[in-house]
Amino acid sequence: MIKFPEGFYFGSATSSTQSEGAHTDDLKGKDIWDIWYEEEPYKFFDGIGPQDTSTFYKNYKSDIQLLKKVGHNSFRTSISWSRLFPQGFGKINEDAVKFYRNVFEELKRNDIEPFVNLFHFDMPYELQKIGGWENRKVVDYYREYAKKCFELFGDIVKRWFTFNEPIVHVECGYLLCYHYPCKVDPKAAVQVAYHTALASAFAIKEYHELNQGGKIGIVLNLTPAYPRSQNEADVKASNIAELFANKSFLDPAIKGEYDQELIDIIKKHNLMPEYTQEDLSIIKNNTVDFLGINYYQPVRVCAKAHLPNPEAPFMPDYYYDHYVMPGRRMNPYRGWEIYPKGIYDIAINIKNNYGNIEWMITENGMGVENEERFRKDGMIHDDYRIDFYKEHLTWLHKGIEEGSNCIGYHVWTFIDCWSWINAYKNRYGLIELDLETQERRIKKSGQWFKELSEKGGF
Ligand code: BG6
Repeated sequence: MIKFPEGFYFGSATSSTQSEGAHTDDLKGKDIWDIWYEEEPYKFFDGIGPQDTSTFYKNYKSDIQLLKKVGHNSFRTSISWSRLFPQGFGKINEDAVKFYRNVFEELKRNDIEPFVNLFHFDMPYELQKIGGWENRKVVDYYREYAKKCFELFGDIVKRWFTFNEPIVHVECGYLLCYHYPCKVDPKAAVQVAYHTALASAFAIKEYHELNQGGKIGIVLNLTPAYPRSQNEADVKASNIAELFANKSFLDPAIKGEYDQELIDIIKKHNLMPEYTQEDLSIIKNNTVDFLGINYYQPVRVCAKAHLPNPEAPFMPDYYYDHYVMPGRRMNPYRGWEIYPKGIYDIAINIKNNYGNIEWMITENGMGVENEERFRKDGMIHDDYRIDFYKEHLTWLHKGIEEGSNCIGYHVWTFIDCWSWINAYKNRYGLIELDLETQERRIKKSGQWFKELSEKGGF
């Protein structure tokens, strides 16, 4: 049997925008997703926007009962910044305070440990209007928001995260045009990345000063970079991919500094952000207590075949080409490679190169389209998802056996949720959501997950 250590966290993650539903009775301010949907609804799969996502806001009590039914001893969600502070700062929304307190208390009453994240791609629109993460002032607003969250909920919540996947709002928002504000502006991307690392460090500082007896970390999506071959040029290409995709946030979060090679590349391309020594020392002196890692896919690269277009805006793949490995396993619905051993490589990387810091898998999962075809006797038989989890857990277990300090495994996600521009195209849940009726039904993977958690393994 694959058995995990006593007290291992089993559960799932979600985010406020993806689960609560934006059109609620309280005074939530708009975030960039609400506005983007108003401006360009056709960019969202089937034209479905963030207003009705999974209705957790209304159904949190019964949803928490469902979490119990699928074996959760822990659960991550995020606080919506613009629900708590409709303007991003200033006047607080008391309904939001009540809602989040109720949710966290209800989780505790049900012996489910809340893991709470402060930012999941959801910049308040009022702050985006003044430049979002490009503007240093927004770092101060985030710091105030974070501090308020600790003061309001820190007596219940003992595990915090400052950000979820910060590289995503950098890449998708400022390089690739997949998230609002849809800019292609490498200089802004670097500024946004740096301000995000700084904001995270300020939140950590505030949290530690309050001495609430909990821990604070950051959630990073790690995509280990693998070279096509051991040819020197391929290896060099994969080292550079690793710098941008992983070390850009891992290093400041855990070591309080940036890799010199990354700084050199950024300088070479005239992309250095505006910074002060004082802010750099905040990053240096306020590192995470523990780490959340989302793992979905690796990145495979090889040396570049052609010179980059000198007029094109800088992208990290100026230094490498993506390599399509023959025989790779794909999740065709999401277009992501399935490579379970990657989770082991991450475990060993954290052990060997990041001081074996305490960490956990905060997301791992498989989004599949049209799951209706797998319905038998009323239940979705998602055996592919169970196999996916088993394979990843087997490699994770090996990493733990070899000494990596991993304390938990959260899947993405407990209930089919709204996936940003993919809306409800791919379903990830342990529990099915009927979009017409909002009815919830446990899938086969949900039953399996309960057994996994009860036995502490499989
Ligand atoms: C992670 C995010 O990137 O992956 C989630 O933290 C997201 O918000 C999940 O939903 C799955 O990706 P997607 O794009 O298929 O929803």
